[in-house]
Amino acid sequence: MMTRARLAGTGSYLPETVVTNQDMSGIVDTSDEWIVSRTGISERRLSSGESTWHMGAQAGREALAASGLRPEDIDLVIATTVTPDYYTPSLACIIQAELGIRKAPCVDLGAACTGFVYAMDAAARYLATGGARNVLVVSSETLSKIVDYRDRTTCVLFGDGAGAVVLSAIPEDSDEPGARILSSCLGAEGESGGFIVSRALSIDHPFILDADAGATGRNRDRFGCEGERFLRMEGQEVYKFAVRVLQESLQKAVEKAGLTVEDLDWVVPHQANIRILETAARRLGLPMERMVVEIAGMGNASSASIPVCLDRMVRDGRLVRGQTLGLVGFGGGLTYGALLLQY
Ligand code: ACO
Repeated sequence: MMTRARLAGTGSYLPETVVTNQDMSGIVDTSDEWIVSRTGISERRLSSGESTWHMGAQAGREALAASGLRPEDIDLVIATTVTPDYYTPSLACIIQAELGIRKAPCVDLGAACTGFVYAMDAAARYLATGGARNVLVVSSETLSKIVDYRDRTTCVLFGDGAGAVVLSAIPEDSDEPGARILSSCLGAEGESGGFIVSRALSIDHPFILDADAGATGRNRDRFGCEGERFLRMEGQEVYKFAVRVLQESLQKAVEKAGLTVEDLDWVVPHQANIRILETAARRLGLPMERMVVEIAGMGNASSASIPVCLDRMVRDGRLVRGQTLGLVGFGGGLTYGALLLQY
């Protein structure tokens, strides 16, 4: 895949409420020292009522404004979240309505923490085939809705927030230098899905044939959950998976593009744990100065973490036109993906 496309605008939104490690140690048996040394997280932002759609719309509005486009120029909206406010309407449809984008098709894409990378890959393919000219991608997460604040092994890790980008097609014969999607490498390992689970509603209606359906398997929970929505994670298994796929998917995407890791100005990874990023960087031979790390102040905001990083990099001037970036996501599913682009 080599698609002429410009990252035309970025936006982000983090809730105002700051929850420090000190605050966390007031509700579970933990400490600032443990959390910082094991994860690199010092504080996270948690929603004080801002819904997933509200945060997503704020980020999307900012990205649209930065792109200089009008709402009617957007001809596809892709949203990603593991924490939607509604089964229907989709997050993408609500954002379309909030931003005054008329008629464009809207779809939510479910790839957990890899959602943004999957969405960028899908957007690039729409642009490449002429199916769309300007795609709004919004990733918004309110992990605090599914985190169990009695479970110290997960509650210290997650935060809420949203990020968005507008990706625009550039005609193949354009004189504009750079600005292209260079390659991607996506994948999933469904057999390991049980390592990160948050259960949706189970079957419960007046016409269930067998009251004991749970035991017979019809209403059986595949992952041994106990009817709760709370996110459950096998931290060490996910850690090993993350280090492996971060390295492998980035390397494959780099090879597909005919580049080497040294050609990357920036790697923008899913912000899950500083130790995962440090280990992967070491194995890739990538200096940490080129690995973007924003985890200290935001925690793990699932699919929102990469677009929030991109927005910060654009706004503080770190990201310069012509630079080459590797976006890498990994998480629930289990899913993973890397996408290379020239800004
Ligand atoms: N405070 C203090 N102690 C704790 C805490 C805490 N918050 N959490 C766990 N511990 C304890 C454990 O109980 C255990 O104690 P024990 O030895 O007495 O049993 C000890 O610390 C070590 O626990 P481990 O699980 O071995 O700790 P580890 O070093 O593996 O770190 C962590 C845990 C941070 C979760 C790590 O495994 C990790 O980052 N995994 C990857 C998670 C991830 O990347 N998720 C991203 C994808 S999922 C998504 O984004 C939605």
